[in-house]
Amino acid sequence: MKCNNITFHEGKVNKFDRYKVLGQKGLVVWLTGLSASGKSTIAVEAEKVLNSMGKAVYRLDGDNIRFGLNSDLGFSERDRFENIRRISEVCALFQDAGLIVIASFISPLARMRQMAREKCGESFIEVYVKADVETCIKRDPKGLYQKALNGEIQNFTGISAPYEEPGNPELVLDTQCNPLDVCVQQLVGKILEMSAFEK
Ligand code: ADX
Repeated sequence: MKCNNITFHEGKVNKFDRYKVLGQKGLVVWLTGLSASGKSTIAVEAEKVLNSMGKAVYRLDGDNIRFGLNSDLGFSERDRFENIRRISEVCALFQDAGLIVIASFISPLARMRQMAREKCGESFIEVYVKADVETCIKRDPKGLYQKALNGEIQNFTGISAPYEEPGNPELVLDTQCNPLDVCVQQLVGKILEMSAFEK
């Protein structure tokens, strides 16, 4: 049942007070791309670099979140929307807390990513981790493409479910043409620029 009779309660500390304490702006970095495109690998490395620079950074990852918060969801379009809706709410809260959030989710439809952007406000960047489906099939680190091609997994993105390429992302990381360290460097550079905060 939907909850009624609720009132939003403002605090006495706003996000700019928190940015001041942390010396950074909260930022949501939304990585989208096919499974095996390199989202999680890039996110792990970027998180490590930023953490070692003293940044407050946190990583949210599709597979991991589906063990807990979203363990009740599957991969139908409806469930994927709900997956992204909940994650977007978490991202918006973490951003408000002053964190740099690196969120890696396939988020296959443009409307899903638009929903995330709208919930997170202006401190949001969409990053397209680009690798075509043939490349991802070759990589297949978890063996899931093979299973999907054999018909053992339904609704698999790129095989039996759609992926809409981002039309106007803030950054493209091409993992077919560039090695991991170049992609990480590009991402970290963009994050430092976007999360800079003058006290
Ligand atoms: S999303 O489409 O709802 O954004 P999410 O990023 O949370 O997907 O989860 C994707 C991960 O779940 C993939 O990397 C893969 O390991 C796993 N997975 C399991 N089944 C599927 C499927 N049908 N389609 C895509 N990924 C799947």
